[in-house]
Amino acid sequence: MSDKIWDGRFSHKTDASVEAFTSSIDIDKRLYSYDIEGSIAHCSMLAERAIITKEDASILIRGLNAIREEIERGKFEFDDSREDIHMHIETALVQKIGKVALKLHTARSRNDQVALDVRMYLRQETVNIIKLITELCKIIVELAERNLNVILPGYTHMQRAQPVLLSHHLMAYYEMFSRDAERFNDSLKRVNVMPLGSAALAGTTYPIDGEYTAGILNFPKVSANSIDAVSDRDFIIEFLSSASLCMVHFSRLSEELILWSSSEFSFIELADSFATGSSIMPQKKNPDVPELVRGKTGRVFGDLMAMLSLMKSLPLSYNRDMQEDKAVLFDAADILKACIKIYLKMFPELRINREIMEKAASEGFLNATDMADYLAVRGTPFREAHACAGQAVRYALDKKKELNELSLKELQSFSSVIKKDIFKFLNPQEMINRRKSAGGTATENVKAAIKKAKKNLENTIQRQLS
Ligand code: ARG
Repeated sequence: MSDKIWDGRFSHKTDASVEAFTSSIDIDKRLYSYDIEGSIAHCSMLAERAIITKEDASILIRGLNAIREEIERGKFEFDDSREDIHMHIETALVQKIGKVALKLHTARSRNDQVALDVRMYLRQETVNIIKLITELCKIIVELAERNLNVILPGYTHMQRAQPVLLSHHLMAYYEMFSRDAERFNDSLKRVNVMPLGSAALAGTTYPIDGEYTAGILNFPKVSANSIDAVSDRDFIIEFLSSASLCMVHFSRLSEELILWSSSEFSFIELADSFATGSSIMPQKKNPDVPELVRGKTGRVFGDLMAMLSLMKSLPLSYNRDMQEDKAVLFDAADILKACIKIYLKMFPELRINREIMEKAASEGFLNATDMADYLAVRGTPFREAHACAGQAVRYALDKKKELNELSLKELQSFSSVIKKDIFKFLNPQEMINRRKSAGGTATENVKAAIKKAKKNLENTIQRQLS
């Protein structure tokens, strides 16, 4: 028998440097369980359709199970000369059960095989990620609930703008991550397509039954076009793009934690166990975890860009270039999971400096809009009211006071409409609670949003468990 399963038409051995260069085993060995599961389903289908005998099928299946065990016990040898995980398993099968093993690849090519393996891997990984995001959402909601009533200066243009509830700000992240979970979930139906039977590109002459294989492997759908089935990596690009967007959310959150834990802000403090020291400056407590999450975001974007670039000029159908898909896919999935996991631990340990946050929310004329509103609801046209509040800000700035620190008399010099009740009106808590528009920061809104989120999460978790 020849060295390699495919080398019948070759008269010279592959150069060792080519073997090393083309080998992908270091990366794709982690697909072994999907590869074996797919092969077992394929065998059962071949037997069912009498393409191979039932006896041969059970010998093949026993052999495949034994190889799985060997891999799991660390007793399996990997080496470059056998290229990839598919060849490793097939070659090992020949060694284990002899010639019958050569029947496994009937009506199949590595092109549809690798597409199947990656799809099986990705649907599992997507489900894992959705579960992790759900846990994260739960933690965010818990933090929001525990800190309801804490007032934060809300920012636009990185300038203090209006007071909001910290919980409202946190619930904004809940919304982002919920969309991520939903996006991953939506993408699953495009991952869940069974490509076996497409063979190299044109389909197969054997009377296979793709629906049967799909049934065993729990795929709701069989691919509709064999050429597309072996060339399609859209589902990987889609995953990487969802992962990139999820990382954008992590990166923004991380950026805020980094800023907020600086002594300039001091809004929060990271737990000692989630911060690191400096090797030279003894006073330092650095936010390395959020910094690294922010940094790793770039790598996930890179994975997406690599995958888009990889595919953009490939003629149909399979091209070996596509072997490069797995390194970037695994990299992005691993990073995303690591980031979610570290946040799951770090986030509940966050210490919130309520007084400092609230003080910041009461300084810097965050109530100027409300002063304008006060005048407008009492009949002053809004533009005029805006100008009037602006003049009051100018005056207060000169006096080095806040608007609510001016006397009633001083305030009245800007408008005769102003009465004593203005002071209550300009109080941050009051300002927040007046913002009852849908999705606004009023405490009652935020409470309702938290309640709704908890219910949604409960349902999601129930569904995930069933
Ligand atoms: N290792 C290959 C990959 O990941 C498997 C498919 C190889 N197909 C081929 N025609 N050489 O793409």
